[in-house]
Amino acid sequence: ASYKYIETSEPRPGVGQITLSRPKALNALCTPLIDELNTALRTFDASPTISAILLTGSERAFAAGADIKEMAPLTFSEAYTTSFIESWSLLTTQIKKPIIAAVSGHALGGGCELALMCDILYCTEKANFGQPEIKLGTIPGAGGSQRLTRAIGKARAMELVLTGKTFSGKEAFDWGVAARTFASWDELIEGSLATAETIAGYSKVAVMAAKEVVNKSQDLGIRDGVEFERRVFHSIFGSQDQKIGMEAFAEKKKAEWTHS
Ligand code: HXC
Repeated sequence: ASYKYIETSEPRPGVGQITLSRPKALNALCTPLIDELNTALRTFDASPTISAILLTGSERAFAAGADIKEMAPLTFSEAYTTSFIESWSLLTTQIKKPIIAAVSGHALGGGCELALMCDILYCTEKANFGQPEIKLGTIPGAGGSQRLTRAIGKARAMELVLTGKTFSGKEAFDWGVAARTFASWDELIEGSLATAETIAGYSKVAVMAAKEVVNKSQDLGIRDGVEFERRVFHSIFGSQDQKIGMEAFAEKKKAEWTHS
């Protein structure tokens, strides 16, 4: 497919990369961009050759937010009746393969929220995160008040959302938002691709189930969560790859996954 606001590639075996590419607007997330992102995500999710997805922007900006110029004239009725921003949820509700966000530069407002929706967040030390919506007379609208608060606690999240102050990639790591930080853009991309390739080297069934159960922890209480995990764990005994993985261990061989 040819896209206007994103680029897609398959840089490593099993890895699909989506690069947000609207440089003149620092990757501001206009609706047509989100539509393209959703199409690309659905395509990779359905592709038999892809097991992990990398989502990135440019060195200067992951994404500087939802498109302020698109939102400025919107009325309540338009936002409500068209379910404005709801399409952003596809990433968290329908994509079963893991998505790694590689964040460099600005990840503000909706850009920060998009990164928080991904399964693993990597960033540069100097990345610039924040929920500056308050400065525009509005509030986060794509889950920022919920996901950021769960990730860093109410004290810090409330301060950030009410002041619009930004936080660095280093702080994102120190506070548990980012799994790793990198000193440079090149190292960020290399590190992200390496992790994506590692994940893509495992059984797709197990990887998708692992993503599902970890994400469930964000919605369920501990008792229901542990029960959900055990049910999914039981179901994995119905896969070929569970047999292949465990037999390969016993025979001291490398597992040759069938992904089924
Ligand atoms: C539309 C944007 C944009 C945005 C930047 N641009 N961010 N356009 N929506 N979110 C455009 C600028 O208008 C400008 O276009 C070009 O990108 C370059 O930006 P500059 O401001 O000239 O760059 P710089 O001086 O380097 O400043 C970078 C910046 C600043 C600090 C990131 O652009 C900025 O503050 N942007 C807005 C960040 C923000 O408030 N995001 C939250 C949006 S609200 P021209 O045509 O002038 O060259 C939001 C709501 C989420 O996300 C809720 C639902 C999802």
